[in-house]
Amino acid sequence: MAQGRPWSFTLAFCWLNAIFLAVWFVTPAVTTADGTQAILHSEVARQNNQSLLWGPYRPNLYFGVRPRIPKSLLTGLMWGKIEGYADFQHNIRYTCEQNEGMKGYGWDEYDPRRGGVQSIHDIGNGIDITTSFVKVPGGAHGGSWAVRIKGTLHDDTPSDQKTIVVWYVGQEGEDATLEALPGDDDFGYEGDVTLQGRSEALGGYKLVITQGKGVQAQSDHDLSRIRGPGQTVVQSLTYPEEHLWQGKGILFRQLKEGVDWLVENKYDVQDPPPPWQVYQLANKPGKGNVHLVQKVFEGDFEFDVLFSSESAGAEITSKDVTREVQEATESFEERFKGVFAPKAPFSDEKKYTKLGYSLFSNLIGGIGYFYGHSLVDRSHASEYDEESEGFWEDAAAARARNLQALEGPYELFTSIPSRPFFPRGFLWDEGFHLLPIADWDPDLALDIVHSWYNLMDDDGWIAREQILGAEARSKVPAEFQTQYPHYANPPTLFFVVEDFLEKLLKSSNGTRGGDANTAREPLATASLANPEVGRDHLRRLYPLLQRQFDWFRKTQAGDIKSYDREAFSSREAYRWRGRTPTHCLTSGLDDYPRPNPPHPGELHVDLLSWIGVMAKSLGRIAGALGLDEDVEAYNVILTAVGKNLDDLHWSEEHGCYCDATVDAFEEHQLVCHKGYISLFPFLTGLLPPDSPRLGPLLKLMADEEELWSPHGLRSLSKKDEFYGTAENYWRSPVWININYLAIAQLHNLALQDGPHKAAAGDLYTRLRRNIVDTVYKNWEETGFAWEQYNPETGMGQRTQHFTGWTSLVVKIMAMEDLPAEAGKTAAAEAEVRDEL
Ligand SMILES: *[C@@H]1O[C@H](CO)[C@@H](O)[C@H](O)[C@H]1NC(C)=O
Ligand SMILES: *[C@@H]1O[C@H](CO)[C@@H](O)[C@H](O)[C@H]1NC(C)=O
Repeated sequence: MAQGRPWSFTLAFCWLNAIFLAVWFVTPAVTTADGTQAILHSEVARQNNQSLLWGPYRPNLYFGVRPRIPKSLLTGLMWGKIEGYADFQHNIRYTCEQNEGMKGYGWDEYDPRRGGVQSIHDIGNGIDITTSFVKVPGGAHGGSWAVRIKGTLHDDTPSDQKTIVVWYVGQEGEDATLEALPGDDDFGYEGDVTLQGRSEALGGYKLVITQGKGVQAQSDHDLSRIRGPGQTVVQSLTYPEEHLWQGKGILFRQLKEGVDWLVENKYDVQDPPPPWQVYQLANKPGKGNVHLVQKVFEGDFEFDVLFSSESAGAEITSKDVTREVQEATESFEERFKGVFAPKAPFSDEKKYTKLGYSLFSNLIGGIGYFYGHSLVDRSHASEYDEESEGFWEDAAAARARNLQALEGPYELFTSIPSRPFFPRGFLWDEGFHLLPIADWDPDLALDIVHSWYNLMDDDGWIAREQILGAEARSKVPAEFQTQYPHYANPPTLFFVVEDFLEKLLKSSNGTRGGDANTAREPLATASLANPEVGRDHLRRLYPLLQRQFDWFRKTQAGDIKSYDREAFSSREAYRWRGRTPTHCLTSGLDDYPRPNPPHPGELHVDLLSWIGVMAKSLGRIAGALGLDEDVEAYNVILTAVGKNLDDLHWSEEHGCYCDATVDAFEEHQLVCHKGYISLFPFLTGLLPPDSPRLGPLLKLMADEEELWSPHGLRSLSKKDEFYGTAENYWRSPVWININYLAIAQLHNLALQDGPHKAAAGDLYTRLRRNIVDTVYKNWEETGFAWEQYNPETGMGQRTQHFTGWTSLVVKIMAMEDLPAEAGKTAAAEAEVRDEL
C-alpha cells in the first residue's frame, strides 16, 4: 500500500479546516417543540402511525433512519477508504451527491411497512455497500428496527484496503437522554456497542451496534494503546441542538481535534502513523446528544445496527434481522407481482421487473420526514397583484425588499423528486409521485396527502416548494428559498384524491382485486377495507380541497371583461402569477414559451385546465359524500371551463389549444407554441371522446416533425422557433410525467367507442413502448433514472437519480397491452397518416 508522506499529512489539515468551515457555519434556524397534529383519531390512524413511524426518512443521506416525529433520534451512515492522509477530502460518503462518481445506488426493493435492501456501488472507494433495513412491529412506540450494513470490496480493490465506517446518532429534544455504555477497556469495544436512550415519544430504547464480521485494522504503532485500533470506538458529545443534522461536520470537527492532539503529542515526522489510524476518534463513551461509533475495517465487513423499543418486549437480534430481511424480500416480490406486474410486451423479460423494482422502491424508499421553519414573504405588496404593464419588474423590486421571514415550524411527510438534488417536497411533483404509491399502499398515500394539506394556510395557499429547516435550506441557493403566497403550482394532489375515490367506489362494490396484497399488509388498504374510514378521509379532505380551489379562482383570475373577450362564461379564465419574460415557474413548465412580453391581459390554457381538474374532482367527491347541491355547483363551473377552453384558447388555424394575450389594440389574441401546453385539456381528461378537438391534437402528437419522437413526446414542437433554445428545460426534452398523462388519456380514448378509438389505441401502444424502452435503456447503461430525456438521442439528462415522477414508468409497464388485432393497427396508422 502506498504510504502517505508527511507533507500530505499536513495538507490534510488545511482541507479539514476548510471543510469544517464550509459545513459548520450554515446558519441554524431556531426551532421550538411543537406537537404533531393528529389528523385522524381512529384506531386505523393510530395503527398506521405506529406502522409508519420509522423509516429511512432522511432520503438526502445514502442511509439515514429517523422517526416521523419533530424532535427526535437522527441516525446516519458514513464511510470512506483511508489509504492516504488526504483521502477524507473526497471519500467520506454521507449525503447523496451527484458528483461522487457512484455507479448507481438506491433501493433494489423497499416497502415502507417492512423495509428493504439498498445497494450502493461506490467506485471511488472501490466498495459496494449494502444496507438491509427491516422493521419489526410491537409495543406502543412504533416498534423496533434494524439495519445490516455490509461492505464488499470490488475485485480490483486491494484486499487489505482500510475503510472507515461511522454510525452517527443524534438525539434531539430536551426531554431526551442518550448514553453509550462503557466498552471492554478504556480504548474501545471488542464486541457490541450499546447505547441506551429514552424520550417521551419513543419511550425507552436500546441501540446496539454489533461487532459483526470482518477484520478491524491493527497497527504496530505504539499509538495503539492510546487510540484503540482493532476495536470499535465511541465518542459521546454534547452539541447545540441546531447542529445535530450536520453529521459530517461533527465528525470532521472531532477528527480534527484528534489530529491536533496527535500533532502536539505523538507525531513523529519521520515515522507517521498510517492514515486510517490518524483519523481514528478517541474512545470517550458516555452521555450526550451526539454519538459517533467508528470502526476501521480491513477488507470486507458486515455488522448490524439494532434498535429495540423497550415497550416492544423482546430485543431484536441479528438472527431476527436475517429472517426479516428474507421475509421482506419475499413479500416485496409477491406484492409487486400483484400490483405492478409488467404486462406485454414487457412481461416476459425479467429485466423490466428489475427496472420496476428499482424505480418504484426508490420512489417509495425516498419518502422523507421534514421539520422546521420556512421562509415566506407575507408582505402582500401591491406589486404582487401584477396588474400593471411591466409588472414583473415591479414585482422583482418588491421581492428585493426582502420582506420574508421564517414561519413555523412545520412538518411534512412526503416523497421527493431526487435524493441527491431535490431532497424536499414539491407540490407539482407530489401528485405524480403518489399515483404509483397509492396503488401499493393507499393509506400511506392518504397520509402524505393529509400532511400536505396540513401546510395549507387559511387562504387556501400551499407553498410550492417545501424547504423546511436548516438542513433543507442548506441545499437551496438563497434566491430560491423564499415562498410567496400569491404563487400557485399545479394542484396535482387532486389526481390522488380522485384516484382514492375511485378505489373506494370499486372496493365498496366488492370488486377489490383479490391480490395477495391485502392479506399481507392489511394496514396499507385499511381505508378501503373499511369504507367508513375511507369516506371519513374524503369528508376531512373535501373542505380543504374546496379552500384550495377557491384560492386558485380568486388569486389567479384572468381578465375577460376588460378586453371585451367573447366567451361562454365571463368568469372562467386564469393567469399564473409570478411570470417573467423568460419564465413561468409557477406553472411547473418553467421556460416553456408563453406570450411575450407578459401582460396582465394574458390567459393560460394549462391553468384553466387545472381549474377544470379541480372542479371535476370536487364534483365527484361531493357526489360520493351525498352533497347534491355542491355537485350541481361544480358541474356548472366544469361546463363553463370546458366551453371557455374552446372560446378563449382553441386555435382553428393551428389546430391546438394556445395561451392568449391581448394585442396593441387590446384585442384578444392567441399565442401558439405547440407542445405540452397545446394538449393540456386532453392531458387532464377534460375532452369527451367525441370532441372535434381530438383529431387535430392526435395528429399533433403523432407528427414526427412536431411532438412525436422515438423516445417519447417532446415538450415543444420541433417546428417551434424556440425549440431547443436557451435553458432548453421544457423546450424539447421528453418528460415522463406528461407522457404518462398522454398514455393514460390515449388508453381511455382507445377503450371508448368514438371516431378516434383506433388512432388512440395505436398511439397508446407505441408511446407506451417508447417511454419504457427509453427509461430502461438509460437505467441499464448508467444505473440511474433521469429527470428528462433527450428527444433526439434518447439520453437521460439533467438531474441524475430522478426517481420521482420518472418512476411512473412502473404504472406504464403495468398498463394493459391493447389487443393488436392484425389490420387494426395498420388501419389506425393509416388514419393517423391521413390526418397528417
Ligand atoms: C405517532 O406516534 C408517535 C410515537 O408513538 C407519537 O409521538 C405521535 O404523536 C403519533 N402521531 C399521531 C398523529 O398520532
Ligand atoms: C358498482 O356496481 C354497479 C352495479 O354492478 C355498477 O353499475 C357500477 O358501475 C359499479 N361502480 C364501480 C365504481 O365499479
